[in-house]
Amino acid sequence: MKTIFLTTAVALAAASSLAQAEDRITVSVDATTSGAKIDRRIFGQFAEHLGSGIYEGIWVGKDSAIPNTRGIRNDVVAALKAIKVPVVRWPGGCFADEYHWRRGIGPERKPSMNANWGGVIEPNTFGTDEFFDFANQVGAEAYVSVNVGSAPVSEAAEWLEYMTSSTGDALGAERAKNGHAEPYKVAFVGLGNESWDCGGGMTPDFYVSQMKMHARFDRNYNPAQPMQRVAVGPNGGDTAYTEAVMKAYQGHSWAWGIEGLSLHSYTTGGGFPVSQKATGFGEKEYAVILKDTLGMEDLVTRHSAIMDKYDPEKKVALVVDEWGAWYAPTPGTDPGFLMQQNTQRDAVLAALNINIFARHTDRVRMANIAQMINVLQAMILTDKEKMLLTPTYHVFEMYVPFQDATFIPVRLDAGTYTYGDISLPRVDAIAAKGTDGKLYVSLTNIDPNRPVEIDTAFLGVKAKSVTGKTLAAPKMDSANTFDAPNTVAPKPVTVKLKDGRAVVQLAPSSVTVIAISL
Ligand code: AHR
Repeated sequence: MKTIFLTTAVALAAASSLAQAEDRITVSVDATTSGAKIDRRIFGQFAEHLGSGIYEGIWVGKDSAIPNTRGIRNDVVAALKAIKVPVVRWPGGCFADEYHWRRGIGPERKPSMNANWGGVIEPNTFGTDEFFDFANQVGAEAYVSVNVGSAPVSEAAEWLEYMTSSTGDALGAERAKNGHAEPYKVAFVGLGNESWDCGGGMTPDFYVSQMKMHARFDRNYNPAQPMQRVAVGPNGGDTAYTEAVMKAYQGHSWAWGIEGLSLHSYTTGGGFPVSQKATGFGEKEYAVILKDTLGMEDLVTRHSAIMDKYDPEKKVALVVDEWGAWYAPTPGTDPGFLMQQNTQRDAVLAALNINIFARHTDRVRMANIAQMINVLQAMILTDKEKMLLTPTYHVFEMYVPFQDATFIPVRLDAGTYTYGDISLPRVDAIAAKGTDGKLYVSLTNIDPNRPVEIDTAFLGVKAKSVTGKTLAAPKMDSANTFDAPNTVAPKPVTVKLKDGRAVVQLAPSSVTVIAISL
């Protein structure tokens, strides 16, 4: 009897220590070495004339009952300021290669068709001057994509002249007449968009010859703001544009250059046309989407290796200026408006991608999630006067301390989350020293079923105190709605500091950021 009891006790103890081993992961943050600065621009946004991304999402007009400043929604601006949006890419997207800027300036706006997105009328009431007003209200840099596909080079060159020249220049004088005497600051110019597809279906070589002319003639006349040129780059894993553009760059003359190469990659969980549901999905779809999104690591690594070949000094940034989840549109909405709900799964997806960009911060120096408001994986949803913040917004909010922070390497045995034949790392983590001197660690529990205890050790520094915030949700497809806007919102989490180590429990499918004072 005694033997049986002992055997049972030993078995129970072994089982419980196995469970403990499985449910506790040790993370080691090595503050004796530091990496590159995490460019704040990896938290950039993308706002296209698409659905209600601009009209209603940003622009309501000066006479609207919705509180606004010169036609731009105050609630949206305040929310975006709170996450310190560093840069906004505009006006597209596919829209950019059919955009004629002159229709969107001055007192009389000329409507056009938005052929790409729903075939609706584009009123052009939100044009160049409104965009810069918006960017300035938010405190973000401007990233303007010019029309390479359907306009002569002179059109883009003159747009840059309108935006950046002094008032001695006729186009600068026209801008002043439209209310802005000071030249605008164009921090980035996109030389086309998806020229391999909606931007004109160009072969890599044809695009390179167009791109060189734009890189030469789309000039910045404002000495107060250096401007970086971003060439069209790869579509996901296709390396043809990467090779062609970077090869051309390697042999470039004094007359032209580029500072960025764009990469577009969406998480669809099965390619296009999209079919995955934004809400009401099961664990299988959860696992499929997160596996797909983790493919960003391979994409960035592969394109970076090609870039290293032609640009070993890493002068050209890899700019992931369209990324995020793209699901089947919300039932009952115009499919051309790309409206979708945003859930806890998207919060996890956002954290995983940001972590990948941060780990490659020596090459990935800008990223722009698609898109900012009401479109695809949005930060904000609006319904007339109502506005809500999505789970993705909250991740960007929790990651603010990582903007311009110094990357610090992390070691962990991530464990495994398995669903069917899909196996993913169970936990993902990054660390950085913030500009405020604190150490920040972001911890993502991918597993939607099992909580996990994280025990963090710090090498080279002594933790004095620690606080934490976590974004968890009742279900992996929990979303914020206009009736219940705070279902998914960050909450403080208890972090125990013991012998200089920080111990925190991560809920299933959650994102947690801890701040360590040294
Ligand atoms: O973000 C929606 C669209 O996706 C963009 O307009 C285009 O560049 C991409 O195909």
